[in-house]
Amino acid sequence: MKIPKHIAIIMDGNGRWAKDRGLPRFEGHREGMERVREVIRQAQRLGVKAITLFAFSTENWDRPRSEIKFLFSSLEKFIDKYLKELQENDIKLQMIGRRDRIDKKVIKRIEEAERSTKENKSFLINVALDYGGRWDIVEGAKKLLANCRSGVISEDDIDEASFSKSLALADIPDPDLLIRTSGEQRISNFLLWNLAYAELYFPEVFWPEFNGSELKKAINAYGQRQRRFGGV
Ligand code: FPP
Repeated sequence: MKIPKHIAIIMDGNGRWAKDRGLPRFEGHREGMERVREVIRQAQRLGVKAITLFAFSTENWDRPRSEIKFLFSSLEKFIDKYLKELQENDIKLQMIGRRDRIDKKVIKRIEEAERSTKENKSFLINVALDYGGRWDIVEGAKKLLANCRSGVISEDDIDEASFSKSLALADIPDPDLLIRTSGEQRISNFLLWNLAYAELYFPEVFWPEFNGSELKKAINAYGQRQRRFGGV
């Protein structure tokens, strides 16, 4: 079976999953968190090398404060609960996105987890928090401009390769596969640059239903696709 090395996931439908069951939205996020662990384990078992999860977008600040609080405290709990497991399985955790608007206490916890897992090599989890694809591209442009102004690089050094390196995912190869659950078929300002050649997969199930066997299905579907990268 052809295995994607890097999978990007938009975990959509937690709220609708809960609503369908007459539960409050946060129950959907709670259940969604369980799937995060399950999907990571399955991905690692199948030989995937990296996963990038869209956990909180630059637009998600428009949600009720109580929901935002719940999402970030869930993330802290996730780290507390699974840091040991990440170490045992040689998994590196890192965050991509803006760090200046998230509660300092949460950032501190994330940075501790980044520091303590940074030498791990078998698998990489990128958690996108306060992340937006356009923000990422603008930040990249600013970095290149600053390097030009200070003479570190010249205008001629700006090309696709150097631009890629100035983005949040820098040296990590682009995702081969993007999964968005809940039947929605949009990229919603996720990794705009990096998804240029990704295969797109849109299962109907809500994120709290996306278990290990759903991931297998996604990978099977990926295996059937012919990737030509613009060639023939
Ligand atoms: C989308 O469902 C889900 C989110 C905005 C949050 C996803 C976050 C998690 C599952 C937790 C992340 C945790 C880690 C450790 C990465 P929605 O609320 O937009 O659902 P709806 O579209 O049905 O309302």
